[in-house]
Amino acid sequence: MVTLNTVVITGATGNVGKPLVAELVAAGIEVRAVSRRAAAGFPPGVTAFRSALDALPGADAVFLNSRALGGGLEPTIAAAREAGVTRLVALSAINADDDFARQPSRFRGDRNREVERLAVDSGLEWVSLRPSVFASNFAGMWAHQIRTGDVVVGPYAKSSTAPIADGDIAAVGARAFLTDCLLGRRLSLTGPEALTNEDLIGVLGGVLGHELRYVEAPEDAVRQQFQHIGFSAEFGAAYVALLSETVDRPALITHDVERILGRPATTFSQWVAEHRSLFTN
Ligand SMILES: NC(=O)c1ccc[n+]([C@@H]2O[C@H](COP(=O)([O-])OP(=O)(O)OC[C@H]3O[C@@H](n4cnc5c(N)ncnc54)[C@H](OP(=O)(O)O)[C@@H]3O)[C@@H](O)[C@H]2O)c1
Repeated sequence: MVTLNTVVITGATGNVGKPLVAELVAAGIEVRAVSRRAAAGFPPGVTAFRSALDALPGADAVFLNSRALGGGLEPTIAAAREAGVTRLVALSAINADDDFARQPSRFRGDRNREVERLAVDSGLEWVSLRPSVFASNFAGMWAHQIRTGDVVVGPYAKSSTAPIADGDIAAVGARAFLTDCLLGRRLSLTGPEALTNEDLIGVLGGVLGHELRYVEAPEDAVRQQFQHIGFSAEFGAAYVALLSETVDRPALITHDVERILGRPATTFSQWVAEHRSLFTN
């Protein structure tokens, strides 16, 4: 039986953290949201903290985002145990066990393998969320090109992914705090369909009412594109390596989102319709 009243959310202003805060507030949980920002604009009733360590005393559970915690990940888990926290929910990734050379996120400091392992080894109740690629990634990568033209240039037209709506990850995360049914599970969470880059562009064009064309760029050009938007050469190389593995191989679909939430997972088309403004001027 769940008796969690107070939950600390790290990465609370982020892609997963923001909708997770909203889900938990709606469920009546006392939310402590961690953000570096002085005015993060959390919903009424949420208490903001600048550091996870300060938010822990008296808390029952913690959502661990390794990007937000950085080097504070291990100290936060140790302090959580000391503070009497009973449950950890880790934000990991579906590819956390893969070779690091195919995990672009490693090269921006994310530690998806470690955050799960630390939660599992903590001695506390744990759940690990292992999402596939977030739908919001495609806004980050492509929105500028879509706003300014009808051609999207990127790697491997035929590489396949199963984008998951960020809000669906948060909804599963909320279940991990609000129920006991996910305890001790590593949840591989995907969107409901495997789509190639060309398919994704087709969906975007259809929803936005704007005919779009995907143009496959050579690997070198893709690596340069990433450097141009502020990522390291290693990040670009790992991204290319990751996608090259999925060419002509439909991405894994797990259906766990639907099973856990009792409703269909959000399709990419629905997600684009709900976030149309990201792609329009
Ligand atoms: N994107 C994907 O496709 C994908 C797929 C699977 C797994 N993941 C994993 O999910 C995690 C990221 O989750 P997310 O997208 O929800 O996070 P996010 O939105 O990028 O970041 C969450 C919050 O953390 C803070 N933050 C961001 N970068 C930071 C940094 N370098 N140092 C300190 N604080 C930082 C920011 O909050 P403040 O500014 O308010 O402090 C930000 O709003 C990563 O571990 C990633 O590898 C991502």
